[in-house]
Amino acid sequence: MAGKGKAAFIGLGVMGYPMAGHLVAKGFEVTVYNRTAAKAGRWAAQHKGRTAPTPAKAAAGADIVLTCVGNDDDLRAVVKGVDGAFAGMKKGAVLVDHTTTSAIVAREIHAEAKAKGVDFLDAPVSGGQAGAENGALTVMVGGDAAVFDRAKPAMDCYGRAVTLMGPAGAGQLTKMVNQICIAGLVQALAEGMNFAQRAGLDGNLVLDVISKGAAQSWQMENRGRTMLKGEYEFGFAVDWMRKDLGICLDEANRNGARLPVTAIVDQFYKHVQKRGGARYDTSSLMLLLAKD
Ligand SMILES: NC(=O)c1ccc[n+]([C@@H]2O[C@H](COP(=O)([O-])OP(=O)(O)OC[C@H]3O[C@@H](n4cnc5c(N)ncnc54)[C@H](OP(=O)(O)O)[C@@H]3O)[C@@H](O)[C@H]2O)c1
Repeated sequence: MAGKGKAAFIGLGVMGYPMAGHLVAKGFEVTVYNRTAAKAGRWAAQHKGRTAPTPAKAAAGADIVLTCVGNDDDLRAVVKGVDGAFAGMKKGAVLVDHTTTSAIVAREIHAEAKAKGVDFLDAPVSGGQAGAENGALTVMVGGDAAVFDRAKPAMDCYGRAVTLMGPAGAGQLTKMVNQICIAGLVQALAEGMNFAQRAGLDGNLVLDVISKGAAQSWQMENRGRTMLKGEYEFGFAVDWMRKDLGICLDEANRNGARLPVTAIVDQFYKHVQKRGGARYDTSSLMLLLAKD
């Protein structure tokens, strides 16, 4: 398959590296930029794509420019910096951001994009490293409907469910709901698994049984067994989760939502960080119960 158009991908981390690969596999002509150039070189050799020395040069001539970096300031740097994507994008091109950020930065970049004659969608993802590698991400999008329709073929390359949620910022707000729902659930799962162990039950048998009932969840299916074994060196890092929960708590301060459980789970993650678990998977909440 060939000829879907020219794309640029900025940020080849755990998520971006495989996502950019799916674009090539589905027929896009892709130029990548990564701050650590060696990673971009490795990607280009693996996927027969091109590299550029700056985001602006990667974005030059592209119909669609995709970013997946760390946080709000990282996004501002790769988009609005001197050599940022805005400096290279042609009029009418679309910028799609897959970073998990605040809704504030999403709206800010949306407005600045419009002023520059380009379009912007905030499009955070869920599904983790495995979802990115298998092309099975959930993509939650904010922005204009006509722009969404133009950008969807690119997002479909790695998205299993790609949905327009509303105007600029709505994608990030939806991702916040996602993270709020996960936080309390992981703590409950950790408490359940710890209880099972202390009660002398066979934790794996407990999981077999209760995962077929009302307690079932993605976290239970994908993390319950590793929690019982105390394995946390994989998955979605506690540092990232704290960044995301900080965004949720800030937004709740503005919209009046009450997040008592989310706030306390954020504090639990702070303890995990203090115990050296900054890069551990979010299921490491179990650590705090096992070692008291
Ligand atoms: N990992 C997950 O399971 C997951 C799931 C859903 C959403 N997310 C979100 O997706 C985003 C990326 O996550 P990830 O796991 O792919 O992170 P990661 O592996 O740490 O990669 C981050 C990428 O962003 C680049 N970057 C960061 N700051 C930059 C800056 N100031 N200027 C230029 N490049 C910069 C990094 O470049 P270098 O290579 O030079 O460091 C790297 O390519 C985050 O917002 C995260 O919250 C992650």
